[in-house]
Amino acid sequence: MPLVTSTEMFRKAYEGGYAIGAFNVNNMEIIQGITEAAKEENAPLILQVSSGARKYANHTYLMKLVEAAEIETGLPICLHLDHGDTFELCKSCIDGGFTSVMIDGSHLSFEENIKLTKQVVEYAHAHGVVVEGELGRLAGIEDDVNVSDEDALFTDPDQVEEFVGRTGVDSLAIAIGTSHGAYKFKPGQKPQLRFDILEEIGKRLPNFPIVLHGASSVIPKYVEMINANGGKMPDAIGIPEDMLRKAASMAVCKINIDSDLRLAMTGTIREYFAKHPDHFDPRQYLKPARENIKELVRHKIRNVLGCSGKA
Ligand code: G3H
Ligand code: 13P
Ligand code: ZN
Repeated sequence: MPLVTSTEMFRKAYEGGYAIGAFNVNNMEIIQGITEAAKEENAPLILQVSSGARKYANHTYLMKLVEAAEIETGLPICLHLDHGDTFELCKSCIDGGFTSVMIDGSHLSFEENIKLTKQVVEYAHAHGVVVEGELGRLAGIEDDVNVSDEDALFTDPDQVEEFVGRTGVDSLAIAIGTSHGAYKFKPGQKPQLRFDILEEIGKRLPNFPIVLHGASSVIPKYVEMINANGGKMPDAIGIPEDMLRKAASMAVCKINIDSDLRLAMTGTIREYFAKHPDHFDPRQYLKPARENIKELVRHKIRNVLGCSGKA
Protein backbone atom coordinates (compact mmCIF):
# COMPACT_ATOMS: atom_id res chain seq x y z
CA MET A 1 0.00 0.00 0.00
CA PRO A 2 1.39 3.47 -0.87
CA LEU A 3 1.79 6.15 1.80
CA VAL A 4 -1.54 7.66 2.83
CA THR A 5 -2.66 10.98 4.29
CA SER A 6 -4.12 11.10 7.79
CA THR A 7 -7.61 12.15 6.63
CA GLU A 8 -9.27 8.74 6.85
CA MET A 9 -7.29 7.77 9.98
CA PHE A 10 -8.48 10.89 11.81
CA ARG A 11 -12.10 10.51 10.69
CA LYS A 12 -12.24 6.99 12.13
CA ALA A 13 -10.26 7.93 15.24
CA TYR A 14 -12.59 10.84 15.99
CA GLU A 15 -15.67 8.63 15.62
CA GLY A 16 -14.10 5.75 17.52
CA GLY A 17 -12.78 7.79 20.46
CA TYR A 18 -9.17 6.72 20.02
CA ALA A 19 -5.96 8.36 18.74
CA ILE A 20 -3.26 7.57 16.19
CA GLY A 21 0.32 7.45 17.44
CA ALA A 22 2.71 9.81 15.69
CA PHE A 23 6.18 8.49 16.42
CA ASN A 24 9.38 10.39 15.57
CA VAL A 25 11.87 8.48 13.44
CA ASN A 26 15.59 9.04 12.98
CA ASN A 27 17.12 5.75 11.82
CA MET A 28 16.44 2.23 10.60
CA GLU A 29 16.14 0.52 13.98
CA ILE A 30 13.58 3.06 15.23
CA ILE A 31 11.52 2.69 12.04
CA GLN A 32 11.68 -1.10 12.25
CA GLY A 33 10.72 -1.26 15.94
CA ILE A 34 7.73 1.05 15.47
CA THR A 35 6.41 -0.50 12.27
CA GLU A 36 6.81 -4.10 13.47
CA ALA A 37 4.71 -3.27 16.54
CA ALA A 38 2.06 -1.51 14.42
CA LYS A 39 1.92 -4.45 12.04
CA GLU A 40 1.46 -7.00 14.82
CA GLU A 41 -1.23 -4.79 16.37
CA ASN A 42 -2.79 -4.01 12.95
CA ALA A 43 -2.73 -0.33 13.91
CA PRO A 44 -2.84 2.78 11.69
CA LEU A 45 0.41 4.71 11.96
CA ILE A 46 1.97 8.13 11.51
CA LEU A 47 5.76 8.29 11.21
CA GLN A 48 7.07 11.80 11.67
CA VAL A 49 10.35 13.41 10.73
CA SER A 50 11.66 16.60 12.31
CA SER A 51 13.98 18.96 10.45
CA GLY A 52 16.71 17.70 12.81
CA ALA A 53 15.97 14.10 11.82
CA ARG A 54 16.05 15.08 8.16
CA LYS A 55 19.43 16.75 8.62
CA TYR A 56 20.76 13.76 10.58
CA ALA A 57 19.57 10.92 8.36
CA ASN A 58 18.97 12.65 4.98
CA HIS A 59 15.58 12.95 3.26
CA THR A 60 16.18 10.17 0.72
CA TYR A 61 17.41 7.66 3.30
CA LEU A 62 14.36 8.28 5.47
CA MET A 63 11.97 8.05 2.49
CA LYS A 64 13.48 4.76 1.38
CA LEU A 65 13.44 3.31 4.91
CA VAL A 66 9.78 4.25 5.31
CA GLU A 67 8.99 2.78 1.87
CA ALA A 68 10.72 -0.43 2.97
CA ALA A 69 8.62 -0.51 6.14
CA GLU A 70 5.54 -0.02 4.02
CA ILE A 71 6.43 -2.96 1.77
CA GLU A 72 7.24 -5.16 4.76
CA THR A 73 4.10 -4.35 6.76
CA GLY A 74 1.44 -3.52 4.12
CA LEU A 75 0.03 -1.05 6.66
CA PRO A 76 -1.47 2.36 5.87
CA ILE A 77 1.36 4.69 6.93
CA CYS A 78 1.23 8.48 6.88
CA LEU A 79 4.63 10.22 6.57
CA HIS A 80 4.56 13.58 8.30
CA LEU A 81 6.92 16.55 8.69
CA ASP A 82 7.09 17.44 12.40
CA HIS A 83 7.46 21.13 13.31
CA GLY A 84 8.08 22.55 9.84
CA ASP A 85 9.11 26.15 10.43
CA THR A 86 9.26 27.60 6.91
CA PHE A 87 7.25 27.37 3.70
CA GLU A 88 10.40 26.15 1.90
CA LEU A 89 10.91 23.21 4.28
CA CYS A 90 7.25 22.17 3.95
CA LYS A 91 7.44 22.49 0.15
CA SER A 92 10.58 20.38 0.03
CA CYS A 93 8.89 17.59 2.03
CA ILE A 94 5.71 17.80 -0.07
CA ASP A 95 7.74 17.66 -3.30
CA GLY A 96 9.79 14.82 -1.80
CA GLY A 97 6.88 12.47 -1.10
CA PHE A 98 5.59 13.25 2.42
CA THR A 99 1.81 12.91 2.74
CA SER A 100 1.40 15.34 5.64
CA VAL A 101 3.25 18.40 6.95
CA MET A 102 3.09 20.51 10.06
CA ILE A 103 3.68 24.22 9.75
CA ASP A 104 4.46 25.46 13.23
CA GLY A 105 3.75 29.16 13.36
CA SER A 106 2.93 29.05 17.05
CA HIS A 107 5.72 31.50 17.93
CA LEU A 108 4.34 34.10 15.48
CA SER A 109 1.57 36.62 15.98
CA PHE A 110 -1.96 35.36 15.22
CA GLU A 111 -2.02 37.16 11.85
CA GLU A 112 1.49 36.05 10.85
CA ASN A 113 0.70 32.47 11.87
CA ILE A 114 -2.43 32.54 9.69
CA LYS A 115 -0.53 33.99 6.73
CA LEU A 116 2.26 31.39 6.82
CA THR A 117 -0.07 28.47 7.53
CA LYS A 118 -2.42 29.45 4.70
CA GLN A 119 0.49 29.63 2.26
CA VAL A 120 1.53 26.07 3.18
CA VAL A 121 -2.07 24.79 3.03
CA GLU A 122 -2.55 26.17 -0.49
CA TYR A 123 0.57 24.45 -1.79
CA ALA A 124 -0.03 21.22 0.15
CA HIS A 125 -3.67 20.82 -0.87
CA ALA A 126 -2.80 21.41 -4.52
CA HIS A 127 -0.48 18.40 -4.17
CA GLY A 128 -2.81 16.09 -2.20
CA VAL A 129 -0.98 16.63 1.09
CA VAL A 130 -2.63 17.48 4.44
CA VAL A 131 -1.49 20.15 6.91
CA GLU A 132 -1.31 20.42 10.70
CA GLY A 133 -1.19 23.93 12.14
CA GLU A 134 -0.48 25.03 15.71
CA LEU A 135 -2.12 27.61 17.89
CA GLY A 136 -0.88 28.27 21.42
CA ARG A 137 2.62 27.56 22.69
CA LEU A 138 3.98 24.50 24.46
CA ALA A 139 6.08 25.62 27.42
CA GLY A 140 8.87 23.64 29.01
CA ILE A 141 9.74 23.94 32.71
CA GLU A 142 12.96 25.59 31.62
CA ASP A 143 10.86 28.53 30.37
CA ASP A 144 10.11 29.31 34.02
CA VAL A 145 6.77 30.93 33.34
CA ASN A 146 4.50 32.09 36.15
CA VAL A 147 0.83 31.18 36.37
CA SER A 148 -0.55 34.17 34.47
CA ASP A 149 2.07 33.72 31.74
CA GLU A 150 1.02 30.07 31.52
CA ASP A 151 -2.55 31.07 30.75
CA ALA A 152 -1.31 33.20 27.88
CA LEU A 153 0.51 30.21 26.37
CA PHE A 154 -2.50 27.88 26.34
CA THR A 155 -4.57 27.82 23.17
CA ASP A 156 -7.36 30.36 23.32
CA PRO A 157 -10.63 28.64 22.33
CA ASP A 158 -11.92 32.00 21.06
CA GLN A 159 -9.31 31.92 18.27
CA VAL A 160 -9.63 28.38 16.93
CA GLU A 161 -12.60 28.75 14.56
CA GLU A 162 -11.09 31.79 12.91
CA PHE A 163 -7.67 30.12 12.62
CA VAL A 164 -9.03 26.93 11.06
CA GLY A 165 -11.51 28.82 8.85
CA ARG A 166 -8.97 31.26 7.45
CA THR A 167 -6.07 28.81 6.99
CA GLY A 168 -7.91 25.66 5.85
CA VAL A 169 -5.71 23.38 8.01
CA ASP A 170 -6.70 19.72 8.29
CA SER A 171 -5.76 19.34 11.97
CA LEU A 172 -4.74 21.61 14.81
CA ALA A 173 -2.07 21.20 17.48
CA ILE A 174 -3.04 22.89 20.74
CA ALA A 175 -1.34 23.78 24.02
CA ILE A 176 -3.11 22.49 27.14
CA GLY A 177 -0.14 21.88 29.43
CA THR A 178 2.00 19.29 27.66
CA SER A 179 5.59 20.12 26.70
CA HIS A 180 8.45 18.59 24.77
CA GLY A 181 11.24 16.47 26.26
CA ALA A 182 11.67 14.43 29.43
CA TYR A 183 11.23 17.25 31.98
CA LYS A 184 7.63 18.37 31.61
CA PHE A 185 6.87 19.36 35.18
CA LYS A 186 8.88 20.77 38.07
CA PRO A 187 10.08 18.21 40.66
CA GLY A 188 7.19 17.49 43.03
CA GLN A 189 4.67 19.23 40.74
CA LYS A 190 1.49 17.27 40.01
CA PRO A 191 1.02 16.77 36.25
CA GLN A 192 -2.08 18.61 35.05
CA LEU A 193 -3.66 19.19 31.66
CA ARG A 194 -6.33 21.78 30.84
CA PHE A 195 -9.12 19.41 29.78
CA ASP A 196 -11.55 22.31 30.10
CA ILE A 197 -9.76 24.04 27.20
CA LEU A 198 -9.72 20.84 25.14
CA GLU A 199 -13.45 20.37 25.76
CA GLU A 200 -14.22 23.94 24.72
CA ILE A 201 -12.11 23.62 21.56
CA GLY A 202 -13.97 20.39 20.76
CA LYS A 203 -17.26 22.30 20.96
CA ARG A 204 -16.00 25.15 18.76
CA LEU A 205 -14.61 22.74 16.14
CA PRO A 206 -17.04 19.82 15.82
CA ASN A 207 -15.59 16.67 14.19
CA PHE A 208 -12.21 18.32 13.80
CA PRO A 209 -8.98 16.44 14.67
CA ILE A 210 -6.86 17.91 17.45
CA VAL A 211 -3.18 17.08 17.94
CA LEU A 212 -1.28 16.73 21.20
CA HIS A 213 2.46 17.40 21.10
CA GLY A 214 4.82 16.72 23.98
CA ALA A 215 2.85 13.62 24.95
CA SER A 216 5.52 11.21 26.15
CA SER A 217 4.81 9.66 29.53
CA VAL A 218 8.51 9.41 30.41
CA ILE A 219 8.06 5.80 31.48
CA PRO A 220 9.91 5.34 34.83
CA LYS A 221 11.20 1.89 33.84
CA TYR A 222 13.45 3.41 31.15
CA VAL A 223 14.61 6.38 33.23
CA GLU A 224 15.56 3.87 35.95
CA MET A 225 17.36 1.74 33.36
CA ILE A 226 19.40 4.79 32.32
CA ASN A 227 20.19 5.82 35.89
CA ALA A 228 21.01 2.26 37.02
CA ASN A 229 23.63 2.07 34.30
CA GLY A 230 25.68 5.21 34.67
CA GLY A 231 23.08 7.81 33.58
CA LYS A 232 22.17 10.90 35.58
CA MET A 233 18.63 11.96 34.75
CA PRO A 234 17.08 14.05 37.53
CA ASP A 235 13.31 13.89 38.25
CA ALA A 236 12.00 13.30 34.74
CA ILE A 237 8.19 13.59 34.78
CA GLY A 238 5.89 12.98 31.79
CA ILE A 239 2.18 13.00 30.97
CA PRO A 240 0.32 10.27 32.88
CA GLU A 241 -1.12 7.64 30.57
CA ASP A 242 -4.66 7.95 31.94
CA MET A 243 -4.65 11.62 30.87
CA LEU A 244 -3.59 10.64 27.35
CA ARG A 245 -6.36 8.04 27.21
CA LYS A 246 -8.85 10.68 28.29
CA ALA A 247 -7.59 13.11 25.61
CA ALA A 248 -7.85 10.34 22.98
CA SER A 249 -11.48 9.74 23.95
CA MET A 250 -12.14 13.46 23.34
CA ALA A 251 -11.18 15.42 20.18
CA VAL A 252 -7.49 14.42 20.20
CA CYS A 253 -6.81 12.18 17.18
CA LYS A 254 -2.98 12.38 17.00
CA ILE A 255 -0.61 11.91 19.94
CA ASN A 256 3.08 12.74 19.39
CA ILE A 257 5.71 10.55 21.00
CA ASP A 258 9.45 10.97 20.70
CA SER A 259 11.09 11.22 24.14
CA ASP A 260 9.73 7.82 25.25
CA LEU A 261 11.42 6.21 22.24
CA ARG A 262 14.70 7.96 23.03
CA LEU A 263 14.58 6.85 26.66
CA ALA A 264 13.79 3.23 25.73
CA MET A 265 16.61 3.11 23.21
CA THR A 266 19.19 4.79 25.44
CA GLY A 267 18.23 2.80 28.56
CA THR A 268 18.52 -0.47 26.65
CA ILE A 269 21.90 0.38 25.17
CA ARG A 270 23.28 1.57 28.52
CA GLU A 271 22.11 -1.63 30.19
CA TYR A 272 23.62 -3.70 27.39
CA PHE A 273 27.04 -2.09 27.77
CA ALA A 274 26.94 -2.40 31.55
CA LYS A 275 26.40 -6.16 31.11
CA HIS A 276 28.80 -6.56 28.18
CA PRO A 277 31.56 -3.95 28.52
CA ASP A 278 33.74 -5.84 26.03
CA HIS A 279 31.22 -5.90 23.14
CA PHE A 280 31.60 -3.56 20.17
CA ASP A 281 29.38 -4.94 17.38
CA PRO A 282 26.56 -2.35 16.88
CA ARG A 283 24.14 -5.14 15.90
CA GLN A 284 24.48 -6.63 19.37
CA TYR A 285 23.26 -3.53 21.21
CA LEU A 286 20.92 -2.14 18.54
CA LYS A 287 18.97 -5.41 18.41
CA PRO A 288 17.65 -5.23 22.02
CA ALA A 289 17.15 -1.47 21.58
CA ARG A 290 14.92 -2.15 18.56
CA GLU A 291 13.07 -4.86 20.53
CA ASN A 292 12.34 -2.47 23.38
CA ILE A 293 11.12 0.23 20.98
CA LYS A 294 8.75 -2.36 19.55
CA GLU A 295 7.58 -3.32 23.04
CA LEU A 296 7.04 0.33 23.97
CA VAL A 297 5.05 1.11 20.81
CA ARG A 298 2.92 -2.00 21.28
CA HIS A 299 2.12 -0.80 24.82
CA LYS A 300 1.18 2.69 23.54
CA ILE A 301 -1.04 1.28 20.79
CA ARG A 302 -2.85 -1.16 23.07
CA ASN A 303 -3.06 0.65 26.37
CA VAL A 304 -2.78 4.38 25.65
CA LEU A 305 -3.89 5.24 22.10
CA GLY A 306 -6.57 2.55 21.77
CA CYS A 307 -5.87 2.05 18.04
CA SER A 308 -5.06 -1.66 18.09
CA GLY A 309 -6.91 -3.47 15.27
CA LYS A 310 -8.01 -0.19 13.63
CA ALA A 311 -5.76 -0.23 10.51
O1 G3H B 1 9.14 17.98 19.03
C1 G3H B 1 10.28 17.68 18.69
C2 G3H B 1 10.62 16.28 18.44
O2 G3H B 1 10.81 15.57 19.65
C3 G3H B 1 11.80 16.19 17.52
O3 G3H B 1 12.96 16.55 18.17
O4 G3H B 1 14.01 18.27 16.71
O5 G3H B 1 15.37 16.89 18.32
O6 G3H B 1 14.42 15.86 16.25
P1 G3H B 1 14.28 16.93 17.30
P1 13P C 1 7.75 14.30 23.51
O1 13P C 1 9.03 15.02 23.72
O2 13P C 1 6.86 14.40 24.71
O3 13P C 1 7.94 12.89 23.08
O4 13P C 1 6.96 15.05 22.32
C1 13P C 1 7.28 14.77 20.98
C2 13P C 1 6.63 15.72 20.04
O5 13P C 1 5.74 16.47 20.35
C3 13P C 1 7.11 15.71 18.65
O6 13P C 1 6.54 16.73 17.90
ZN1 ZN D 1 6.11 18.53 18.96
